[in-house]
Amino acid sequence: MAADAQQTPQQQLDEQLRSFEAALPDVADEPGLYELQVRFLGKNGAVTKLRRLMGKVPPSERKELGKAFNRVKQAMETHLATRAGELAAAARERDLARRVDLTFIPDPPRPGTLHPITQTRRELERVFRRLGFDVADGPHVEAELYSFDKLNILPDHPARDMQDTFFIERPTHLDHADAPALVLRPHTSPVQARTMLQHGAPVRIVAPGTTFRRDDDATHSPMFHQIEGLYVDRNVTMADLKATLYAFVEAFFGRGLGVRFRPSYFPFVEPGAEFDMQCPFCFDGQLSHGCGLCKQSGWIELGGSGMVHPAVFEHCGIDSSVYTGWAFGFGIDRMAMLRHGIPHLRHNFEGDLRVLEQFTSP
Ligand code: PHE
Repeated sequence: MAADAQQTPQQQLDEQLRSFEAALPDVADEPGLYELQVRFLGKNGAVTKLRRLMGKVPPSERKELGKAFNRVKQAMETHLATRAGELAAAARERDLARRVDLTFIPDPPRPGTLHPITQTRRELERVFRRLGFDVADGPHVEAELYSFDKLNILPDHPARDMQDTFFIERPTHLDHADAPALVLRPHTSPVQARTMLQHGAPVRIVAPGTTFRRDDDATHSPMFHQIEGLYVDRNVTMADLKATLYAFVEAFFGRGLGVRFRPSYFPFVEPGAEFDMQCPFCFDGQLSHGCGLCKQSGWIELGGSGMVHPAVFEHCGIDSSVYTGWAFGFGIDRMAMLRHGIPHLRHNFEGDLRVLEQFTSP
């Protein structure tokens, strides 16, 4: 298609028309047609370029050249319109020829399933409701006041360190003096404080929910789930706590398993204890012999517990000379993993359907 220097501009135009006409039958669809149009008539198209020669021919020849240009342009445009009509008609033919089988029964939509953590949370709620507990809730973005101060966690406690807790910047549009200091709650214990302040004693609640800490490794995730228990009344003792934990473990794992306390420290309880349950995977009815899941110890660590510290009662408007109570807290994610045999914490939060689809909702 290279323009021959010997050819007159008219000849060059005619040659462009011929190559246009040669290309036209190969165009199979609208985008192809548009491409052809741009190639010849677009801003840098072959014909448009030739039109620029107009200024270079002697004035006497300009009129003829102008006519030739218009003739070629018009011919091309007519071709384009005709071909566009043909393509549209062919597309319509294809549409009409398509048959839809109206009797076809498609696969039914697959119902989703509840996330294993949600299933576990609901099961925990169900078990504790049967034991006489109400289910309480609290905000994820929580005041430092409820997360720490009301719970007797003093300003120099490590939980109040930037390394451990996600602190939220105070909103700048509020007067700083009025804006409450906020955190992503690092445990479910603020729900204890809220419930006691709102309802007073007696109290019997569990508070399951999402919690956040600056922790991220194979066994810790910055977002995780806990369930908190709180029982406050006259004459409540640690024996009630142990009996409740026994009853819970039996209901949740479907068999009687031992529960043991180990002395421990939490600022909001005194005395404080961590509690373990016998490993349900290697317990033969008499003894837990040790397995990979309990790291050969026969026991699985569940969480923290203890008698509510009198200072917490005072902060939350409950008379500690009249009432006693206990609280416990443990992780839901590990419970779900134990119950369903999920090998890695990260499987809980990756949203991988190949994992999640294995847990059909009960
Ligand atoms: N809040 C504690 C934690 O997150 C657990 C706990 C709850 C301990 C209630 C004692 C009583 O580690």
